[in-house]
Amino acid sequence: MSASWKTLAAGISVFALAACGGGDDTASSTQGDSAATADPAAQEIADTRHEGFEDLGEAFKTISDQLKTGEPDIAAIQASAAVVSETAAKIPDWFPEGTAPSDGVETDALNTIWGKPEDFAAAITRLQNAAPVLVSAAESGDAAAIGEAFKQTGGACKNCHESFRADDD
Ligand code: HEC
Repeated sequence: MSASWKTLAAGISVFALAACGGGDDTASSTQGDSAATADPAAQEIADTRHEGFEDLGEAFKTISDQLKTGEPDIAAIQASAAVVSETAAKIPDWFPEGTAPSDGVETDALNTIWGKPEDFAAAITRLQNAAPVLVSAAESGDAAAIGEAFKQTGGACKNCHESFRADDD
């Protein structure tokens, strides 16, 4: 293992968990208890949204896992970075009106998303700005560049989860 990959690997573990709340696979909702049962079409949108985020989480975790090895498979990181970037581009379409917890939908998305649309849009933009940098870094194969871009991307995940997702811990 090269020195730079080794240094990078040492920093990844703690960070990745904090950024993504990895391991929590439950779709349980702690909000909207008073609301009536959701429109099935709205629930379906929320379920598709949740699956989209799981794909995003899986791709990001693949990168994290590779970096942690200290001898990463660069091709795997490149492929996953592309998925992160492509998935990030879809996020704006995942939150139509009527799919909030206040609509009775079971979701980890918070009502704040619809209450503060500009803040939410900024949180999406932060990820959409970070992801292409991660893609380029992966293409370069440079350990330091990948490590930095991975951190920036994870920071964008965490930033949004802190304000707009339930149960982030
Ligand atoms: C703009 C806001 C935003 C950004 C950026 C964001 N997420 Fe999320 N994420 C959410 C919301 C909201 C949910 C809950 C969706 C739902 O349940 O309908 C979620 C759910 C998830 C889930 C599903 C499992 C769970 O605990 O609910 C995973 C995994 C996840 N995100 C990973 C990531 C990763 C990895 C990144 C960065 C590469 C990221 N997210 C970036 C808002 C965001």
